[in-house]
Amino acid sequence: MYLLILLTGFAVVVMLSVLFAPYIRKYAAGGVCRSPARLDGKTVLITGGNAGIGKATAHDLAARGARVILACRAVEKGEAAAAEIRSKVAGAQVEVRELDLADTSSIRAFAQRFLKEVSHLHVLINNAGVMMCPYTKTADGFEMQLGVNHLGHFLLTYLLIGLLKRSAPSRVVVVSSLAHYFGWIRFHDLHSQGSYNSGLAYCQSKLANVLFVRELARRLQGSGVTVNAVHPGTVRSDLVRHSTFMSLLFSLFSFLLKTPEEGAQTSVYCAVSEELHSISGKYFSDCAPAFVAPQGRSEKTASRLWDVSCELLGIEWD
Ligand SMILES: NC(=O)c1ccc[n+]([C@@H]2O[C@H](COP(=O)([O-])OP(=O)(O)OC[C@H]3O[C@@H](n4cnc5c(N)ncnc54)[C@H](OP(=O)(O)O)[C@@H]3O)[C@@H](O)[C@H]2O)c1
Repeated sequence: MYLLILLTGFAVVVMLSVLFAPYIRKYAAGGVCRSPARLDGKTVLITGGNAGIGKATAHDLAARGARVILACRAVEKGEAAAAEIRSKVAGAQVEVRELDLADTSSIRAFAQRFLKEVSHLHVLINNAGVMMCPYTKTADGFEMQLGVNHLGHFLLTYLLIGLLKRSAPSRVVVVSSLAHYFGWIRFHDLHSQGSYNSGLAYCQSKLANVLFVRELARRLQGSGVTVNAVHPGTVRSDLVRHSTFMSLLFSLFSFLLKTPEEGAQTSVYCAVSEELHSISGKYFSDCAPAFVAPQGRSEKTASRLWDVSCELLGIEWD
């Protein structure tokens, strides 16, 4: 009897999902960047531009006339993505450069060459990310998710900030996540050496993104460089590859997820839209301002994380 009720309930849910699928899809697709802004003559750098949301963002910005540089850890994957964009966008200017955010010597080598060869940088999109990987450390001994998602991008931005200022007006877009709501900064064990939970470490790194944006925006006031954080939505991509549970959930509910193109909309919006030209230190979702979790609004935590990050990276950033 119970089994019959369960099966009937399941069948009703499936039927309703199929019936309302077009409406659910439309709702799940989220906001769209409606700005017609062109980027001719502008240079954009996107980390992790070879896949998922980063590749879709690169495609959109290349179609607006920008010179787009994909910073990828696997150059061959980057070249494949660049070739795909060129095949779809006539005249697209897309280049690939090697960057491994899990290794500060790779980040420094990347920046050194970049500064020698590229004279302007108008948009930096800190997009690359890793989620829920097994416990691993970066080349410098940082926990992988904090190391790549936060510290790697922190160092990259530090090394390129002079160029961004010289290219002003310019923008930094940091791809964070709604996951920051479930994170807190464990200053006593930042690298999860005492205990590691892959989900919480991801949430910590995404909260670090939001706090970085807050503190950087404060320090950049009056410089002509703005910085904003983004939640792209829940997007069909390879991000969940390390978690069987998340991969299963993403497969089962794939019809509810955004496509990478839909997921790229808020990054594109923050990179190009005219009404954001002087907006800085904010957090956007679905091309609109969104609420930041209380722990992401703490100036004290943002400032402390800034100091700790500088110390870990051996840099002084006033
Ligand atoms: N998908 C979602 O639902 C979702 C939700 C909220 C936030 N986000 C955020 O959106 C961003 C993009 O994620 P996605 O969904 O597009 O995932 P994805 O398809 O897995 O793309 C991640 C990108 O980051 C690159 N990357 C990973 N580790 C790197 C490293 N050490 N050095 C340089 N690049 C590295 C990957 O390179 P490889 O191809 O070589 O691995 C890939 O290009 C991430 O920051 C993620 O946290 C995603």
